[in-house]
Amino acid sequence: MQKKQYERPMIVKHIAGLSNKVGRAKTSKSMQSISGINIKELTAKYGSPLFVFCEKTIREIYKNALRSFSVRYPKVQFAWSYKTNYLDSICKIYHDEGSWAEVVSEYEYEMAIRNGVPGNKIIYNGPYKPYESLKRAVNDDAMIHIDHFDEMYMLEQLSEELGHPIDVAIRINMDTGIYPIWNRFGFNLENHEAMNVVRRMHLGKKLNLVGIHSHIGTFILEPSAYKTETAKLVEFAKTVEQELGYTLKYIDIGGGFPSVNTLHDQYAPGAETNKPVEVYAEAITSALLDANFAPERLPTLILETGRALIDEAGSLITSVVANKRLPNGTRMVIIDAGVSTLFTAFWYKHEIMLGEDKGGLLEETSIYGPLCMNIDVIRPSIRLPAMTVGDKLIIKPAGAYNVTQWMQFIHMRPAIVLIGENGKVDCIRNAETVDTVKGPEMTPDWLNS
Ligand SMILES: Cc1ncc(COP(=O)(O)O)c(C=O)c1O
Repeated sequence: MQKKQYERPMIVKHIAGLSNKVGRAKTSKSMQSISGINIKELTAKYGSPLFVFCEKTIREIYKNALRSFSVRYPKVQFAWSYKTNYLDSICKIYHDEGSWAEVVSEYEYEMAIRNGVPGNKIIYNGPYKPYESLKRAVNDDAMIHIDHFDEMYMLEQLSEELGHPIDVAIRINMDTGIYPIWNRFGFNLENHEAMNVVRRMHLGKKLNLVGIHSHIGTFILEPSAYKTETAKLVEFAKTVEQELGYTLKYIDIGGGFPSVNTLHDQYAPGAETNKPVEVYAEAITSALLDANFAPERLPTLILETGRALIDEAGSLITSVVANKRLPNGTRMVIIDAGVSTLFTAFWYKHEIMLGEDKGGLLEETSIYGPLCMNIDVIRPSIRLPAMTVGDKLIIKPAGAYNVTQWMQFIHMRPAIVLIGENGKVDCIRNAETVDTVKGPEMTPDWLNS
């Protein structure tokens, strides 16, 4: 008889969940459908992983945000931040709700035009705007936000070429108590660079200041920072009016409100602790109202909110492809979506739901993606019941920044569907094939022989 092989003993901690007088608390949640559409049916038809967006959620969150600001201030305009999610279908829903477009490159500018947004409803931001794209934006009557002196100078040259003055706004960076300060964009307020660029423009007589803009960062958990930002912008607006006679048409406070996601270093769930949009609206509009603008000089408040509007409307359905144990005994599962698909895994402890109700003991588990790269960690630690290959995990909110920052790295990008308000499911982006990736490539003849 062959001697049995030695197996190293392993102790695994099982967590049954805390008990209370009604029984054991449930710590892993499940969802079998999204907006009434069965998850298994969705992946059977469109594959896994799969991004799913819900039109109803998009519209509800947008309407609530618009209302939160409009009840407090009469001139409010949202401009959809393209980089947050520039799927045509998503952008068109926001434009249909009345939102303008906020773009940060020539490429995004072109997408907004193709989505039917008129130039005078496009805000052109960003640190790199090529001359020809600025020319087009000026001819389209777009709102150009100057980022640096070279751009100001380029616009002056353009004004000379076109033979007329150009309306512009400037981006301003400032200390609002949020660190690190995003001070590489625009002109600094505290060292008077912002005031000096306006004085310089005024002396040049070619550019006319019509607005000011600032974007203090992203996922800002402290609403009072916006009150500081708005108060500083208002003071700046009053100074340029008194000193140089510019009456500003708008004050653009940028984006940056948090979604209901949870940052890796946040202790409590974001859905329970991140403040709702109303609190941000109160902070911003109270600073505007404090300024006591005359009615005929009331500037439009522009918001470039991205993440807080779209995140919750998107989910990623994934499938378990393997179960494994690390040498130290830690349980791991591999799923079919990695950080190349779900970029926001670097920032968030997403909510991860089971695709079906499962009993059994929970065990601390690491969730890895399918990339052959050590950084491909979707969640370093989460309590999950035993999983089987093919089981679904739904990761949410996943609507912001993923479908713009994703990449074809090792695996191609999956399909995206939109569930309409009428319950109809439409594929709004096909899963990629090798042809999608190889289409733009050419091989020199001598390598083909
Ligand atoms: C200029 C500008 N506006 C708007 C946004 C959107 O920000 P968020 O998605 O945090 O609302 C960004 C994002 O970085 C930005 O840089």
